[in-house]
Amino acid sequence: MTSLTLREARAYEEMAEKSIPAGTRPAFHLSPRTGWMNDPNGFSRYGGRYHLFYQHYPYATEWGTMHWGHAVSDDLLHWEYLPAALAPDEAYDCAGCFSGSAAELPDGRQLLMYTGVSRERTDGEETSEIQTQCLAVGDGVDYEKYSGNPVLTSADLPPGASRVDFRDPKIRVRDDGSWDAYVGSRAADGSGQILLFRSADGFRWHFEKVLAENRNRLGKMWECPDFFELDGKWVLLASPQEMCPEGLKYPGGYGTICLIGSCSEDTMEFREESDQAVDYGIDFYAPQTALTPDGRRVMIGWMQNWGTVSPPRENRLPWYGQMSIPRELSVKNGRLYQVPIRELESLRGERAEHAEESFSGTVSYPDVSGRLADLEVDVEPAEEGGTYGCFSVRLAKDSRSHTSVSFRPGENVLELDRGFSGSRGDAIRQRSARVSADRGKLNLRIIMDRYSAEVFVNGGEQVLTATLLTDEAADGIEFIADGNVRMRVVNYTLDI
Ligand code: FRU
Repeated sequence: MTSLTLREARAYEEMAEKSIPAGTRPAFHLSPRTGWMNDPNGFSRYGGRYHLFYQHYPYATEWGTMHWGHAVSDDLLHWEYLPAALAPDEAYDCAGCFSGSAAELPDGRQLLMYTGVSRERTDGEETSEIQTQCLAVGDGVDYEKYSGNPVLTSADLPPGASRVDFRDPKIRVRDDGSWDAYVGSRAADGSGQILLFRSADGFRWHFEKVLAENRNRLGKMWECPDFFELDGKWVLLASPQEMCPEGLKYPGGYGTICLIGSCSEDTMEFREESDQAVDYGIDFYAPQTALTPDGRRVMIGWMQNWGTVSPPRENRLPWYGQMSIPRELSVKNGRLYQVPIRELESLRGERAEHAEESFSGTVSYPDVSGRLADLEVDVEPAEEGGTYGCFSVRLAKDSRSHTSVSFRPGENVLELDRGFSGSRGDAIRQRSARVSADRGKLNLRIIMDRYSAEVFVNGGEQVLTATLLTDEAADGIEFIADGNVRMRVVNYTLDI
C-alpha cells in the first residue's frame, strides 16, 4: 500500500516537473525530477535497465526530509524519471530515508537497503537522531517497506560505535549467494569506520566485522562506502567529512577517498596498499558503482560538494543538484583511473580538429566552441627537450566569464579555476592536482554540459570536476600558451 506521504510526493513531482523546461537542465547529467538531489542511491541493473535512485527533497531546491527519487536508463545518458520510490512515512524513517543501495533477490524482486532516520527524546526537550538500516522490496517502480524494519539497529553495533552516525549501506551479493552490507559508522574516537554486516537471505542481518578503520587519518566520519574487486585488487570508496587538506594529495572539506588493497572473499580481511583522492576538483561526493552487463565497473557521484552548496536565494535554477558523468573505472599501477563511459561517444556530433606545430599567446578556432562538448587537447613543448611556462584552456568564455584549466610543467600542477564562472557566492573557486606529465606532455579530455566541466587528465589518472553557473551564452573556448607549445585539439559537439 502506497502511503499518503509517498502519493503526495509523486503527485507533486508529476505536477511540478512541468514547470522545469528541458533546456534549463543539464543535457546528459541526471538532475532531480523536481526540487533537490544529493547522493546517488541504489545504482544497479534491474529488469534489463540501469536504475539510479537519489537523495531527494521534491518540494524545494534545498535539502529537506529525504525521499528517494528514481530514474532509469538504457545507456546512462538518456534518463527517464519514475515516481519517487521511498518517502519518510514510517516511525523508523520519519526524519528521512537516507542513502542506500539496491540488488536483485533470487526471486526476481528488487531489494533496497537504506538508512531510516528517526528522532528520540533524550533529556527534557532535547531530541537526538537515530540511524538504522531498513529494507524495501519492489518491482522496479513500486516498493513496499519490509514489515521487519529496521533490520539493523544500535543493538547490532560493535562496542563504542555511534547510534547517530550509522548510515549508507552498500549491499553486495557474494559468489555463494550470501549478502554483504558495508555501512558507514563512527567509532568511539569520533573517527569513521566501515562495518561489514552479513546475511544469508538479504533480510536477516548480523554484524560480521570492522572492514576498515579511519583512526582520524583521512577526515572524520566516512559516508557512503562502496567496496568491490577490480583488476585483481579490492577498492574501498568512502566520502569523509571534515578532511584536513594534505598538500595536493587531498583537498580539504568533503571529498571522496579511494583505498586500494587486497582482500580474500573468505576472511574479508582488507589490506590497504595505497590511498588517493578520487576527484581533485570541487564538486564530487558520495559516489556509487555498478557493473554493466559487459563487466565494466561504472561510478557515478553527486556532482556537488556540501561545502559549496549555495544558499537557496543564490540558486537561479528551478532544480538543485546533479550527478557526474558515469565513469568507467580501472586500477593500474596501484591507482584508480576513470574515463567517461564509452556510451558518450554515441552523442558525438560535429568534429573539429586542429593542430599547431608551434604557438605562443592565444589561439581559438571558429569551429571549437560550445557548452555541450567533448574536447580533447594534447600539448607538449614545441621543441624537443624544450619547455614552456604555462598552458591554459579557457572554457565557457565570454567577455566577463571563463573557467580555466591551467598547467605549469615546471611544477607538474594542473589547476581548475572557476573564479569567473557566474557564481555570486564566495564558495571554493579553485583546486589543483599534481599530475605526471613527462617533459611537459599533457593530455586532457574535458566533458562539458550546461552546468559543469569534468577534466580527465592523462587517460583518467586524475579527474577534476566543477559545476558552473556561467550564463549559457558564454560558449567560447580558447587556448593560451606562455612559451612555445605544440598542440592538437579535437572537439566534438554533443547532441542529445
Ligand atoms: C552524504 C549524506 C549521507 C546521508 C545523506 C543524507 O552526502 O550525508 O551520509 O545518507 O547524505 O541526505
